[in-house]
Amino acid sequence: MRIAIVAESFGAERRVAASPDSVKKLVALGFDVHVEPGAGEAACFSDAAYVASGATLAIDLATHYLQADILLKVKPPGERPEFGDEVAALRQGATVVSFLWPSRNAELLARLAQRGITAIAMDMVPRISRAQKMDALSSMANISGYRAVLEAGNHFGSFFCGQMTAAGKIAPAKVLVIGAGVAGLSAAGAAKGLGAIVRAFDTRAAVREQVQSMGAEFLEVKIQEDGEGGGGYAKEMSPEFIAAEMALFRAQAKEVDIVVTTALIPGKPAPKLWLRDMVALMKPGSVVIDLAAETGGNCEYTVADEVVVAHGVTILGPTDLPSRLATTASQLYAQNLVHLLTDLGGAKAKDAQTGDLALNFDDDVIYGATALHLGQIRYPVAPRAAGAPTPAAKPALASPTMKEPLRQPTMAYTERAPGRNAITTAESAKNAALTWTMVALLAGAFVALKVLGGNSHDDQTTMLLLERVTVFVLACFVGWQVVWNVTPALHTPLMSVTNAISGIILVGGLLHSKGDLTSAPVVLGLAAVLFATVNVAGGFLVTRRMLKMFRK
Ligand code: NAI
Repeated sequence: MRIAIVAESFGAERRVAASPDSVKKLVALGFDVHVEPGAGEAACFSDAAYVASGATLAIDLATHYLQADILLKVKPPGERPEFGDEVAALRQGATVVSFLWPSRNAELLARLAQRGITAIAMDMVPRISRAQKMDALSSMANISGYRAVLEAGNHFGSFFCGQMTAAGKIAPAKVLVIGAGVAGLSAAGAAKGLGAIVRAFDTRAAVREQVQSMGAEFLEVKIQEDGEGGGGYAKEMSPEFIAAEMALFRAQAKEVDIVVTTALIPGKPAPKLWLRDMVALMKPGSVVIDLAAETGGNCEYTVADEVVVAHGVTILGPTDLPSRLATTASQLYAQNLVHLLTDLGGAKAKDAQTGDLALNFDDDVIYGATALHLGQIRYPVAPRAAGAPTPAAKPALASPTMKEPLRQPTMAYTERAPGRNAITTAESAKNAALTWTMVALLAGAFVALKVLGGNSHDDQTTMLLLERVTVFVLACFVGWQVVWNVTPALHTPLMSVTNAISGIILVGGLLHSKGDLTSAPVVLGLAAVLFATVNVAGGFLVTRRMLKMFRK
């Protein structure tokens, strides 16, 4: 089964649908991969790298399209300068996998239908846990959030981080993120990483912890209303809530230097949240970057792909942020495609009679993401009948219907949220086990000493021993909790404390190290001296290494 990778022709698009690494994986899945020469150039993938990964370079472009069983693209197929119509160049029954945005591209859908094409829209992949690895929207939103912060920084006249210089103090930038979905969390993480003070607001209370895990402050309004619209998407809020939100934003407008807006309600135009009067309240030199520019913008001043300056504030509305990080965006997108084609069954998913790609509609992802099947328009995809397997979600711009929970944001930052939850659960289980072990040990020691005490010790000795065993067991328990439950950032001050404790142990050990060298107290005392010395000396060595890091 032949896959065609072509150069993107839409505007200044720099991404490509395959990386040399993804080609290797597609070949391993049994596909015959053909790449248009120069297709990956803007994303820094050379033709030679594709060939080394097992691809064949296409010699003639018309044949390249015509012989493709599957056309992998980033943007929807369309008119190519110096070539012509990509849709007309495909054979009947071929499959196109790309972003399609069917709600905005009805005409394209009709033309694909006329050609009997099957089209899988990457923007329709349902946001369910199992489909995370194919979720190209999240891959791109993650990149956009990160890049948005860099773009804002490019127009901002100061540092993100605060600085104390010989000439004076520079305050850190204050960044407000509106909408803490995939893009918003990514933006919060990037701004925090650069040293800014980050605040974020979202109508969905469920994202509070995720915002906090990025090191940002989660802003709230007094009104109790959750924006969860089902499946993790937002719903439209009541006028009272919006009024409270506007009041919050007006107060923030006077303080913040950079605003990143990412608010999205499925099936609706972008909500207007950063109004003209809020821009007027901002300090001159501040920056607003509106990620929702393509769907109308969250800021009233936004003009898609233009830089607007109002009241001394720069308002940016870029719609091509993933393309500005073309290499990584292509790698992630290509990976999403590999996962999708793996889910489809690889090259084995070939209809024996027609030779076309056979789709398994029992699969939620395929069911939800197929906009067109052999010329039949499936968009908007109907929810499955009751009793049938889980229905697929509506495309990103339509209302979701999935029963499975929304996957939480992806990427380094965004994946951390569920990851952290998982760790927390595992850790609390471990802690509970440890606590019970300690309790059991103490109880065991108490019983043993009581029994022994009855035979060979007087009550006072038993109680003394019991007291010491208790202190020992509790010390182990506290030590464990202190080391394992403390955030790594606090390990250095913790080391000072443990060094101080080691000092006390040294003195105690020395006091016990007199008398018969073979007696148990002396052996234990010497052991305590040895271990405490190792700890103190180790502490000094680590401190030395850390200090060295600060020497230029
Ligand atoms: P998402 O659905 O994961 O996040 C949107 C967030 O907005 C949700 O958490 C939602 O609760 C929140 N929201 C809705 N109404 C709100 C309100 N009134 N106040 C505060 N928060 C509100 O969407 P994702 O994937 O993060 O995308 C965000 C935006 O970025 C979308 O508009 C998307 O089209 C856009 N985008 C832009 C790109 C570009 O190049 N400019 C590239 C990729 C995505």
